[in-house]
Amino acid sequence: MTARQLLDTLITNIGQLLTMEGKGPAKGEQMKKLSVLNHAAVGVKDGKIAFVGSAKQAEQLQAERVIDADGRLVTPGLVDPHTHLVFGGSREQEMTLKQQGVPYLEILKRGGGILSTVAATRNASEEELVQKAKLHLDRMLSYGMTTVEAKSGYGLDRQTELKQLRVVKRLKEEHPIDLVSTFLGAHAIPPEYQHDPEQFLAEMLELLDVVKAEQLAEFVDIFCETGVFTVEQSRAFLQAAQAKGFAVKIHADEIDPLGGTELAVELGAASGDHLVGASEAGIRKLAQSNTIAVLLPGTSFYLGKEAYAKARSMIDAGAAVALSTDFNPGSSPTENLQLIMSIAALKLKMTPEEIWHAVTVNAAYAIHRGEEAGRIAIGRKADLVIWDASNYAYVPYHYGVNHVHMVLKAGRVVAE
Ligand code: NIG
Ligand code: FE
Repeated sequence: MTARQLLDTLITNIGQLLTMEGKGPAKGEQMKKLSVLNHAAVGVKDGKIAFVGSAKQAEQLQAERVIDADGRLVTPGLVDPHTHLVFGGSREQEMTLKQQGVPYLEILKRGGGILSTVAATRNASEEELVQKAKLHLDRMLSYGMTTVEAKSGYGLDRQTELKQLRVVKRLKEEHPIDLVSTFLGAHAIPPEYQHDPEQFLAEMLELLDVVKAEQLAEFVDIFCETGVFTVEQSRAFLQAAQAKGFAVKIHADEIDPLGGTELAVELGAASGDHLVGASEAGIRKLAQSNTIAVLLPGTSFYLGKEAYAKARSMIDAGAAVALSTDFNPGSSPTENLQLIMSIAALKLKMTPEEIWHAVTVNAAYAIHRGEEAGRIAIGRKADLVIWDASNYAYVPYHYGVNHVHMVLKAGRVVAE
């Protein structure tokens, strides 16, 4: 950047700038160290970061628009690597059942839970789903989330799974948030296949050819859980998906410890998600792999569970941990990743330094966006959040509210 070049935007007078500098995902010990620039400035040109330095150096620069951060914290846009963004209806009636002690998997067994959202999603038009998902995305953007993964899985039939994925494809064009699409056709066994899950999985596998041809998803996921899909079914399904050219993820060991964590590592999955019941052996394997542990403590919280994922053991063993909302209508109806950061501090005992890695760079690697999102560096997309906070520890500390002052997506102010 030379003094004569004109920047589009210069954010200066930044109190703390988290660049998340580094290479690759932050594993174990690396999650404990944050690169912080004090009294900093960031310049943007053509939607990309063109300057990172001190506010003093920035005095030499010219910009069309100067934003005075007034001592605030600036970070990369938050990345949410696991959401069930597109669905019809809502499930507030289940709250009473949960209060009466009916377990999550029991509600599903009775045809409620995921299956009631399946019915609502089958009944909704593509246009209705687009409009509804847009509201959720607007809320996410207002919370500082600029890259978000979105799963299908509330169709469980050809037509509706494709409808959900097409909604995501449309939203990629129509919404500023960068979306990453995952096919989760194996999310539950639909009523019409209750007695033949193998046949259902075969149908979902067949559907992958259309998904591939129309470029509707880059990841394939499965719900490996008691009463849903076994470890053996999950292995076979995901291996077949890999053979068709998809990267894979797993809803693993969320409620019962089945060994899904080990399976995620064995398959070289981009991420193993939930991992509440991960075994010590599974955690050791995770630490030696490139699989990111995506933890979703909002789910333990919302389902009223005592057990939370063992984030401390995972980080101490050397694993790369990411955090996510798991936004969905059943086990975690919230778009607020900042709230999840607080729950991670309180329940997973993660430090602020670890939490910031988990919602930026590690979350980006969990969805293969590590080279684009989650870090502030010259040439990267200018996805930035200016916070109403003077330091990074303040955001997880002051919980349940939105601390965003301003969000820039590819250099454009999209929320303030
Ligand atoms: O990640 N566990 C499976 N899927 C979601 C919940 C989906 C739902 O209840 O609608 C989850 O927790
Ligand atoms: Fe999920």
